[in-house]
Parts: sequence; C-alpha cells; structure tokens
Amino acid sequence: MSIPDLAVQQAALAMAEALSEGGLITVSTGAGMSRESGIPTFRGAEGVWRTFRAEDVATPQALYGDPALAWQFHDHLRQLVTAAKPHAGHCALAQLAGSLSPSVRLRIVTQNVDRLHEDAGSRDVIHLHGDIRRVVCTACDFQDDAYPVPAPACPPICTCGGLLRPDVVLFGEPLPSEAIAEAWRLAQECSAMIVVGTSANVQPAASLPFVALESGATVVEVNPGETPLSPYAHYTLRGGAATVLPSLLEALCHALSAH
Ligand code: OAD
Repeated sequence: MSIPDLAVQQAALAMAEALSEGGLITVSTGAGMSRESGIPTFRGAEGVWRTFRAEDVATPQALYGDPALAWQFHDHLRQLVTAAKPHAGHCALAQLAGSLSPSVRLRIVTQNVDRLHEDAGSRDVIHLHGDIRRVVCTACDFQDDAYPVPAPACPPICTCGGLLRPDVVLFGEPLPSEAIAEAWRLAQECSAMIVVGTSANVQPAASLPFVALESGATVVEVNPGETPLSPYAHYTLRGGAATVLPSLLEALCHALSAH
C-alpha cells in the first residue's frame, strides 16, 4: 500500500468511526471539484482571475456599468459549464449517497455555479453562489433554467426591456439567505465533513469547515495544494477530486459496512 493510499484508508476509517452511531456527512465543494471536468478554477496559475479582474466583470457595478463585458465573461463560463460532464468524483458522491444505510445521510454544499453534482445524480445540493445556467431578469419575474448558450445577444435583454443576468452571486452581493442558513446547519450537525477543491478564501463558505471542527466533526480536505484549512483538518489528501474522491468514498463505504 502506498502512503497516499494509507492516508485515504486512515481518513475513511476515522470518518466511519465518527459515523458509528449514524449521522450526517457534509461535503463542501469549490471550483477545484470541477477542474477535471474542464472548468477552470478562479485562483492559482491557470485561474480565471489571472485573465479577468473580478471588479471588472463580477460585481453589480460591472454588470450595470458595462453589461456587455460582464456578459462576455459570464457567457464564456456558461459555454464551458454547458459543455462539461461530471467526472468520477461527482459520480462517486452521488453513488455513495444512494447506497448509505438509513442512519447515515450525505449532503453537498457547493460554491460552484455549474450543476455537475446534479448532473451526476446528487439531490438537494445547496448552491451558495447561485447557478450560472439559470438566467433571471433584473426588472421583472422572468427566469429561465435553460437559457440559450451562448446568449442570443450581448448583453441579452428581457421582453420587458430589463437587463437579463446569470443567477450567480456577484462580489458584494449577499448570499441566498436560505442556502447559507442550511449550509451552516449542515456544518454544525455533521459528524464528518469532506472539503473538496476550495482555496478556503471566500467567506462565508470558508468558515464551514471551522464550524464543523468546533462541533466535533472529523474534517477531511481533498486538494492538491495547501490551503488555510490544511493545518486544521484532521486529514489532508493531496490529489485531484476525480481520483481521490472515488478511492476515499469506496474506502468509507467498506469501513461503514464493517462497523
Ligand atoms: P479557487 O479557484 O479559489 O480555488 C480552487 C482550489 O481548488 C484551490 O485550492 C486548488 O488547489 C484546488 N484544486 C485545483 N485543482 C483541483 C482538483 N483537480 N481537485 C481538487 N482541488 C483542486 O476556488 P474556490 O475556493 O471555489 O465566487 O473559490 C471560491 C469562490 O471564489 C468562487 O465560488 C467564486 C470565486 O470568486 C463567486 O463567484 C462568488
């Protein structure tokens, strides 16, 4: 057994131990979760914020000040997201959730605006930062979960004359209050948390693992790089989500059935 395999086994055993009386597994995912599906991360050498400045394209001021530029940026991401398919890590999460005993539940909280968890079969996913595939009107009630990609105009305008926008949280905007309340509850109540592919830089999502740690949960980080969470997580598994998650969840499944 190699050292990384050993770390995966140890993390799985610790999670199973924490879940020996049943309980909740909360999985918190960020942009790195979708990296191997072809969607770039935001930070890091190949991150989106190397090419664009967030304040130019992803703030309310940017959207209303230069809607064409903001839409150019978001429509590029919409095209990548629409073309993307879930990878083995997304699928392993959905499969595990469907095969757990009734006393153990798994819920996903994501910062990602793609729907790759749902595409893989996961249900009741909490979306903290919205859904880029959904388009809403800034002036009326119009919303479309499958708005054309690419958008028919840049920027697209509603039949009411209002500016359309992707249904994502822009910098400076509040997060959907129900989503953040539910995420907080899932962090407080879980016995084990898996944190996948987030730089742990953006609040309030970055606080969720710390809420879980304070509540006594076993916290496992899956990330090829160091993050501010790494020194505090019980286990840090260095590698990509598409390879590490399937091994971890398979080991967890075995460990849970042995308990
Ligand atoms: P970041 O782009 O900040 O960080 C991505 C993380 O994924 C880094 O820690 C990488 O090391 C890790 N990573 C890279 N490849 C990976 C792989 N194959 N498997 C697992 N992890 C990998 O993304 P987030 O932390 O999600 O906000 O960013 C949070 C928010 O900042 C985003 O939701 C977005 C952005 O600005 C909004 O749009 C509001």
